[in-house]
Amino acid sequence: METITTKKLNDKVGVEFVGVTADQLRNDDSLAVAVLDALEERGVVLFRKIDADDQSQVDFCRKLGPLNNFKDHPPYETEEVMEISFSPSNPTAAYLKSNDFWHTDGLLDDHAAKTAVLSARVVADKGGETEFASTYEAYDALTDDEKERFENVRVIHSFEAVQRHSYENPTAEQIEEWNARRPGREHPLVWTHSTGRRSLVLGATASHIVGMDVEEGRALLKELVDRATTPDRVYRHTWAVGDMVLWDNSGLLHRACEFDRKEPRRMHRSTITGSSVGQ
Ligand SMILES: [Fe+2]
Repeated sequence: METITTKKLNDKVGVEFVGVTADQLRNDDSLAVAVLDALEERGVVLFRKIDADDQSQVDFCRKLGPLNNFKDHPPYETEEVMEISFSPSNPTAAYLKSNDFWHTDGLLDDHAAKTAVLSARVVADKGGETEFASTYEAYDALTDDEKERFENVRVIHSFEAVQRHSYENPTAEQIEEWNARRPGREHPLVWTHSTGRRSLVLGATASHIVGMDVEEGRALLKELVDRATTPDRVYRHTWAVGDMVLWDNSGLLHRACEFDRKEPRRMHRSTITGSSVGQ
């Protein structure tokens, strides 16, 4: 592998791999090893203006692990790439509003995504950045007393909790429909990874804490997200066309920043399959 220059994106999160080309993505196998190490260590990897096409993105992502297949979401050209846009022609656009709230992808699925990848094809004139905050850092910043108290805490995650961010006073019918569509899941608050590192499992899907007064639990979950996402802990990526960003979904919260939904902002997304949230 050619020597690659890397640059930290801020104190807590992220590293840029400077000057990598789309050709290297396809042909330099040792690059994937370096990226996996960087994702574990820094959470976010940026290839600025790499201009990778869908096939180069998919070829590279396959070296990082098995990919999710989006063939059930036509009309994408490549089954391992999904379009993120608010275009009326995008069948998943209606579900993207919840991306504006801090979350981890896949907590309502069997397996939370391991690594997520976005390439910017069209960017917004104003806004539309993506923000990242480390949930490993969030755990490490707890007091010793909190670490002990949270050891066996279990949290219910639900689609209803996500939707309540957008609909403050839902009807009984709405709630019933949400819960029928996506059943809730229980996860530990503290995720012990196979590496032995620990992170917090938080975000918009988190509804309440098992065995605790619902409102009290919600207040605690909100406080933990607020503490994890203070400005000094967040990397905000301002997109340029051609940027590719990969993130360790299992150790980060992320969210999209506001932009005019009539703008043709378009991202191409791939997902490396993960595993169950650890105990
Ligand atoms: Fe997301």
